[in-house]
Amino acid sequence: MSSESQFISKKYIQELTEGSITVSAPSNIALVKYWGKKQHQIPANPSISFTLSHCKTVTTLAFAKKTQSDSFSFDLLFEGKPKEDFKPKIQKFFERIETYMPFLKNYHFTIDTKNTFPHSSGIASSASGMAALSVALMHVEKQLDPEMDDGHFYQKASFLARLGSGSACRSVKGSVVIWGNHADFSESSDFYGVAFPFEIHPNFKNYQDTILLVDKGKKEVSSTVGHDLMHGHPFAAQRFLQAHDNLHRLCAVMQNGNLTDFVSIVESEALTLHAMMMTSMPYFILMKPNTLEIINHIWKFRKETGIPVCFTLDAGANVHVLYPENVSVEVLAFIKSNLVGYCENGQYICDAIGHGAELI
Ligand code: DP6
Repeated sequence: MSSESQFISKKYIQELTEGSITVSAPSNIALVKYWGKKQHQIPANPSISFTLSHCKTVTTLAFAKKTQSDSFSFDLLFEGKPKEDFKPKIQKFFERIETYMPFLKNYHFTIDTKNTFPHSSGIASSASGMAALSVALMHVEKQLDPEMDDGHFYQKASFLARLGSGSACRSVKGSVVIWGNHADFSESSDFYGVAFPFEIHPNFKNYQDTILLVDKGKKEVSSTVGHDLMHGHPFAAQRFLQAHDNLHRLCAVMQNGNLTDFVSIVESEALTLHAMMMTSMPYFILMKPNTLEIINHIWKFRKETGIPVCFTLDAGANVHVLYPENVSVEVLAFIKSNLVGYCENGQYICDAIGHGAELI
């Protein structure tokens, strides 16, 4: 049984005056969705995701010892330029993780980030951003405590990332990650993400995710507001049970490689997420007409060709098109001729399953 207290650092062996660390962390795409949370970033249901490979945040964390250590002090930069509007989020993050990282107030930090995906693409950078920052902070802590083992390092990095943004805990280590207690997985936890513990069927090796940028604007409803709408939602209890059941079924699929079942579970999850938003109070429709056009084209193409391509959605209008690597040529030709026209400025991103955060 995991507990939060195991992540409270009590002793540091080394002295550290200054330094700098650069880390990259990827975005991830949920197959069974995290939608709804309890206090302290505890998910209302377990989720599972593919870690991505190309959509990443790269964060350089520079640190210098201060003489006074009574408050947090940090500068936040985006591509080298000051980014004041994100400061409250980082301040809140530091407040949440302080108990677990007692060194935070002893240093001045300069956090400089950039994303490998285009600006305002409608792709949330909070998962990759919070994962990158958490892993970078863990590298600082590891320098203070060189005896720390790798298992603890990654578990704690994921634990911290969750306190920044829930889904970020699934971006620390790839390639298929489960977050949240579930009866099928004794090692799963509400506190951090864990790697899928069974052998994954070769059908999922290098699985492709082409992200169609239907609406590049800022999300209409932030995830945090969205999660809140699950409190008092008339269908919440049933939805949480369904997520447990879908994760149980997907666990079998990840091992037996049944792509027909994969398609039906993943698409049902995406539509359920949007159904939850349509049936909350207040209610939202986060798809755009072009989202539906794309979905209908995917269904038609799948019916006509038998190719197991499917879609999933985040809490927005963009569409993630998921398919096995061995049908890439056919699916990419289909995307280019039938779907790209529905993207804003024809923009899309080709990504695939990846492996998590890296030290650069
Ligand atoms: C629809 O992790 O962004 O992408 O914990 O409030 O930061 P916070 O929410 P966030 O929610 C992600 C929701 C989702 C589904 C998912 O990734 O599982």
